[in-house]
Amino acid sequence: MAAAGSAIGLGNIWKFPYETGENGGGAFLIVYLLCVLLFGMPLLMTEFLIGRKAGKSTFSAFREISGSNRWQWLGWLSSFTVFILLGFYFVVTGWCFNYLYEAIFNSYIGMGTDELLNHFTAITSNPLRMSFCSIIPIFLTAAVLWFGVTQGIERLSKILMPLLIVMMIVMAGRVMMLDGSSIGMRFLFEVDFSKITPQIFMEAAGQCFFSLSIGLGLLITYGAYMPKDQDASMTSFQVLFLDTLVALLAGVIIFPAVFAFGFNPAEGPQLVFVVLPAVMQHMSFVWFSGVFFFSLLCIAAITSTISLMEVVVAAITEFTHGKINRHKSVLITTGLMSLLAVIYVLSMTNTWPALRFFDKDLFQIVDDLVTIFLMPVSALCMSLFVGWFMPAKDIDVVPYSKNSFKKWSRPIFVFLLRWFVPIAILLVFLNGLGII
Ligand code: ALA
Repeated sequence: MAAAGSAIGLGNIWKFPYETGENGGGAFLIVYLLCVLLFGMPLLMTEFLIGRKAGKSTFSAFREISGSNRWQWLGWLSSFTVFILLGFYFVVTGWCFNYLYEAIFNSYIGMGTDELLNHFTAITSNPLRMSFCSIIPIFLTAAVLWFGVTQGIERLSKILMPLLIVMMIVMAGRVMMLDGSSIGMRFLFEVDFSKITPQIFMEAAGQCFFSLSIGLGLLITYGAYMPKDQDASMTSFQVLFLDTLVALLAGVIIFPAVFAFGFNPAEGPQLVFVVLPAVMQHMSFVWFSGVFFFSLLCIAAITSTISLMEVVVAAITEFTHGKINRHKSVLITTGLMSLLAVIYVLSMTNTWPALRFFDKDLFQIVDDLVTIFLMPVSALCMSLFVGWFMPAKDIDVVPYSKNSFKKWSRPIFVFLLRWFVPIAILLVFLNGLGII
């Protein structure tokens, strides 16, 4: 549940609906589900396996297993990926906090479709407000890491994650009753195979990596804490199942509402932030529902930022061999994150035009760089590391701890890791680069 809490976050509730909306609905969904099974499952197991074997966090795990510095760069790569992703993750978490504030003060009540769209634009083009909203979750996350209450938060997430799922089921039930909602369900579940393009594969694979936190090394840390007799294949499946369930629930809430209220499904990153306030206005106990849901959303985001920021904090401490202790490392990371988040905000709000490149703001650039390039590259290297360089007996550590990972599935796991995952990621890249 702790690993699921870390994986479930904005990737499921914010990114999945807008990626699905921009990439053709059902066609994207089917490719996404395929990616989750073929990339997600083996790569989740890979990270748990590395963590359990090394008993270390991402930064040092590869050196520990290989017994040399030859693979250290992979620790650097995943920690760097987390670092630049986290800056923009905090910006979007800031949007969630902004909407929690609005729910508390009833600010969006009475707004129609166009007003909600204009409202989002007005909020996100205000650099001061956005910087402030982004810094709140940075400080909250830092406080959790500083006071070492991560375990408390994880215990809390065991209660709150199921609550979030129940709340989302209630919301899905409500939007189904809206006129026109069936068009949204068809958009999400009807597959138009002619819309499946290599571009959709690339986006779906990126979304799968982001949502399951693959290639970031977060799950290496969870693997390190996993009891030796715990069945990691089952744990991987549970994480994957819950993560996909929450993403699907988000889709089942958003798309019927999109069509019922007359939004555009390809609205982009703002999609859920304009649709959810519209949905909230149709729930019973409007104030309570809004505050409750946006609080859960903020907590879901914070449980992800805690595990993400932990990677950076641990990397700094381990890189300096403890000369920078944990508390100092939390302070340094907090400062760097605040700076990075403010830079992203200045770029997005066009306050500082020099921070735009090729007519894209840093937010879009980093989003693409991380999900379409860095995470898949890092995942590819991890699969090569485990598939080809780790001794076969160590690959058995997790799958054979209990019987549930049956004999027939080991060859599949090894085949996927050695051949399918690297070749498929490579093909997706070559296509993205226009080479094939
Ligand atoms: N896996 C995390 C999320 O989906 C990063 O939000």
